[in-house]
Formats: sequence, structure tokens, C-alpha cells
Amino acid sequence: MRILIKNASLVLEDRIERGDLLTNGRVIEQVGGNIESSADRVIDATGCYVFPGFIDTHTHFDLEVGTTVTADDFATGTKAAVVGGTTTVLDFATQERGMTLMDAFSKWENKAKNSSCNYGFHMAMSEWNEDRIAEIPRMIENGITSFKMYMVYDNMRLSDGVMYEAIKRLAKEDCVIGIHCENDDIIKARVKELKAAGKTASRYHAVSRPNVVEADGVGRLMDAAYLAGGPAWVVHLSTKEGLAIARRARERGQEVYLESCPQYLVLEESMYDAEDGAKFVMSPPLRSKADQEELLAAMGTGEIDWIGTDHCSFTMAQKAAGKDDFSKTPNGGAGVQNRAEIVYTRAVKGGCIDMVKMGQLMSTRAAKLFGMYPGKGTLRAGSDADIVIFDPDAPHVIRAATNLHNCDNSPYEGYTAAGMTRDVILNGTLVVENGALIASNKGEYVHRDRCGRYRK
Ligand code: URP
Ligand code: ZN
Repeated sequence: MRILIKNASLVLEDRIERGDLLTNGRVIEQVGGNIESSADRVIDATGCYVFPGFIDTHTHFDLEVGTTVTADDFATGTKAAVVGGTTTVLDFATQERGMTLMDAFSKWENKAKNSSCNYGFHMAMSEWNEDRIAEIPRMIENGITSFKMYMVYDNMRLSDGVMYEAIKRLAKEDCVIGIHCENDDIIKARVKELKAAGKTASRYHAVSRPNVVEADGVGRLMDAAYLAGGPAWVVHLSTKEGLAIARRARERGQEVYLESCPQYLVLEESMYDAEDGAKFVMSPPLRSKADQEELLAAMGTGEIDWIGTDHCSFTMAQKAAGKDDFSKTPNGGAGVQNRAEIVYTRAVKGGCIDMVKMGQLMSTRAAKLFGMYPGKGTLRAGSDADIVIFDPDAPHVIRAATNLHNCDNSPYEGYTAAGMTRDVILNGTLVVENGALIASNKGEYVHRDRCGRYRK
């Protein structure tokens, strides 16, 4: 199958170029200029931008959280992802205590079989001991070259010392480890205090985890990585204070990677007061306009490396578990479908970044760090034919009811996006046309190389 895209604004790594793009089977054959070639399908992209397929570095599909499981599994979550322009998700395979890393990998391989976009896994570890460490080479052989540890959640939390050891050990393999940065002890004390005062509504979720709670975690991560001599990767950065600490770490020569998410760019803490405030209960919580502005500016300067979603969806019935106690609300929100349109609307139309930077934040940097480049993350001859045609002039309102996710709510309900993903080519096949999913279950496992540590 050869697909010829005509009259596009091609988003290359350092510039926009007007011209055509030709795919041949699973790869891109030619990029730029006026391509006169026979093709099975010709797509007119006049007025549209053509990007390398977007990569979502942070999803939780089919994740068991306490006694409940996320509303989206891979079947539904990846349909929502691809229709929004995400051609690859990196989900967190999760090693529960007592489980081997290999068992967690097999479990996630099985969950992901019916995916409609490509998928790879980070390995979230809940233990760090000789047996788990001995499995790391096998993870790398299987294409898992990034890991995660949490400073919070009783079933996952590990100590700062473990993080120090893990960063040091994994750096030797050119693997990176993302850290969920929050101070668990302080959160627990504040939750107890708030509940004792009868403050149980959703808004107190944010009160229990103020900005300094994240900043403390970022600080401890930066110091651990400094002493370990390895990379520090902050997942879902949400605060100006955390950003300032990461900035100082870079100034002292550290290799720091920063991920943020759309919810920290457009949603605000005051939203917890809404009737359906529980849908915003996620960790870290929503912040202030001032935090949003700092994160957006840092996207413009290139200090934020990429944007993932942290898609972790729960229905309102599931969220109701916290109706009398915010701390019992399952944490997380739905967003995998809406990342590109929100980043475009808030950051590009808002004047913080241009389309080239959007390509970097949505695809190129993630492809580089997570060992997928130049197969993914770039439009060049020989690269994978994972391609997004994005219409910058397609105003529409985001609605949970029209999203393809399997969730009855969206934190972005009612948000007016200025543009949208129009068409998507996945592994050389047109799977989204005019905003509609026309082919599902075409996703494949992405066996990743060691990390391309571009800030080393
Ligand atoms: O609230 C969130 N983000 N839930 C998903 C797990 C995590 O903390 O990333
Ligand atoms: Zn997460």
C-alpha cells in the first residue's frame, strides 16, 4: 500500500516545509517537494500539518487500583488514543509485590493484544532486590528500557535509597527510571488532619497535596540522581516549585527529563468545587493558573521535554467510592484522546510554542529518550509510516459522550479545542479518516532500544 499525502505543511524536526509525503508499506519512502508517483491512495492535506505519529509516554490501561480496575482497557483506550493522533502509547506494566518482572511483562502483553495503536511498556517496580535486579537484562532483551518507581501508594512506594540504587544501576544500562514525586508522609498526615476536621469533599484532595509536597519529591529525586550520577526523570510535573528545583539541578550539570500533562496546562484547582469534582481527583492534583503559566513557558524554552496524559480513567460510579471521604476516590482521569488538540489550543494558539515545538513535545523527544528514534518521532525516508494529519482550523467542543474512551466523564468536558487530528496512518495503514476510526486492532508491540539520553 502506497499513500501519497499532497500539499501538506510537513512538521520536520527543525522547520516546517511545504510539500508531499509518500509511504510505501510500513515505511515512509519520500518526504518533501512535489512528489509525482503512483499511489493506492492520495490524501489532500491542504491547510493541514503533517506530524510524525504522536507518542503518549504515560497511560494506565486495565490497571487494578485497590478493589477496582480502570474504566479503559487497551481495547478501548487505544481506540481513543489513535483517533486523537497517538500512534504509540507507553503504558506502565506494573510489578506487584511478590511478582516477577517477567510475569508483569507477560500480563501486560496479554492485556494489550487488541490494541488499536502501537504500544510499549515501562516497568513500574514495587520491589528492588537481588531477584528483581537480576531480571533487568531480560527486560532490556524484551524491549523494556524504561522503569518507574513511586514515592507514594502503600502497595508501590519505595524508599529514596532504593531510588538512588536504581538510578545508578539502570544508568549503566542506558535505561531511565521515572519517579512519581510526592511526599507520602506529609500527604498521610494532612489527610488525617483534614478528615478529623470533617473536610472530606473532593477539593480537600488538592489541599492534602499542595505544591511543596511535589517540590519535596522532586528535590529528593534530584539529589538522589546527583549522587548516583544518573538521569532524573520526573513524571507528570505539575508545579512551578518542582520546575524551579529541576532547573537548579540542570544548572549544576544534571541530566534531567521533565514530563508534564495537559491537565496541568488547562485545568485548575477551583474545579474540585464542581458537582462532579471527583473526576478531577488525580495525583498530583490540579494546580493554579500561575503553575500553568510557568509550565507553558517552560514548554516554550524547551525545559519541559514532552507531554504525556497519565490517562487513568474511572467512571463516576467508581469515583463515588470517595463521596464521603476524598481519600477513597480512585485517583486518575481520562485524557488519552485529547492531548494533541489541547496542547495545540493552549500552547500553540496561546502563543507559547510553534508547530515544530509541538512535534518535539508530542513525538520526537519521547521517541529519542525511549529508544524508538529514528524509526518513530520523525518524518524522514526510512522511518515508520506512523503519521498524523492535523487540521489547525477545526473548532469543536470536547465531550465524554463522543470520546472513544470507555468512561462516562472527561475532565475536559466542554473545553473548546481549536483544531483536531483529521487522519492517522498507523504502520502504513490509514486507520483514522476525517476524525473517525476506520480500522481497529492494528496496534503492534514496540520493542524499544536502550534510551537515547539526549541530555547526557
Ligand atoms: O492520579 C493518578 N495519576 N493516577 C494514576 C497513577 C499515577 O499516580 O500516575
Ligand atoms: Zn500515572
